[in-house]
Amino acid sequence: MPAIPAHSSSEARVAPAPVLVTGAGGGLGRAFALGLAGRGYDVAVADIDEAGAAETARLVEDLGVSAWHGRLDVASVESTEAVAAAVAEFGGGRIHAVINNAALYAGITRAPIEELDPDEWDRVMAVNAKGPWLTVRAASPYLSDGSRVVNIASATVYSGSEHWAHYVASKGAVIGLTRVMAKELGRRGIAVNAIAPGFTLTEASYGHIEGAEQYGVDRGALRRSSQPEDIVGAALFLVGPDASFISGQTLVVDGGRQFI
Ligand SMILES: NC(=O)c1ccc[n+]([C@@H]2O[C@H](COP(=O)([O-])OP(=O)(O)OC[C@H]3O[C@@H](n4cnc5c(N)ncnc54)[C@H](O)[C@@H]3O)[C@@H](O)[C@H]2O)c1
Repeated sequence: MPAIPAHSSSEARVAPAPVLVTGAGGGLGRAFALGLAGRGYDVAVADIDEAGAAETARLVEDLGVSAWHGRLDVASVESTEAVAAAVAEFGGGRIHAVINNAALYAGITRAPIEELDPDEWDRVMAVNAKGPWLTVRAASPYLSDGSRVVNIASATVYSGSEHWAHYVASKGAVIGLTRVMAKELGRRGIAVNAIAPGFTLTEASYGHIEGAEQYGVDRGALRRSSQPEDIVGAALFLVGPDASFISGQTLVVDGGRQFI
């Protein structure tokens, strides 16, 4: 019987290319960027918040790897295409992985379905659902065998969080999109997965619900709140060599609140 290699040779080839993290100007995106840098990946930090992206890039470089940063609006065809091309140039023509993290999250309205503003619904869908599609559409020419896409969904899809229909629907769309992308890009050896984080204590989360710190303690099997770093390991796993045969899946990372 032939020896089974630990990792495919194609993976070894693509590993040096950078990982693009959208919405990495703060919060979970910054935690992903720093986690990747700690593992030796070069990181492309993109956010509509240019100053935040610049600060994350500085922190990434402090960890001894290279960083690119720039302004990105994931809802814009032009912006996603320009950023993907610039990141590919930074990566010598290739992008190893895309983490689709950018979203409208805590700042959006929570209201019953009868009262949600239809224009806000459209904005949320444009950023949260269309954004990951536009970003991968633009990055696709620079992805290759062994590349990865990780889409950040939300455990709210499983809990059906009340008064947040536009957000929950947008994240449900991300899970559907993940499955389609897994099939289409899988033909080229590119694995596509989603992470569904539970309520996590990013800066945005504190203003979002009352009693934020107690939330996970009362609800999750592990009886503690979730910090951004609690989500990072799943992303590192999904972009790394150990996840090479996993695709189309959604990994719930919520301390054991939702069992799906
Ligand atoms: N924090 C949580 O409890 C939690 C739980 C589940 C899922 N999530 C998801 O995790 C991700 C990060 O959440 P967070 O808590 O860090 O929130 P956050 O608001 O700090 O992060 C979102 C980032 O996206 C950026 N962004 C917004 N619109 C953009 C656009 N059009 N183009 C590019 N960037 C844009 C923002 O500037 C911000 O840096 C989001 O996808 C969110 O939906 C968060």
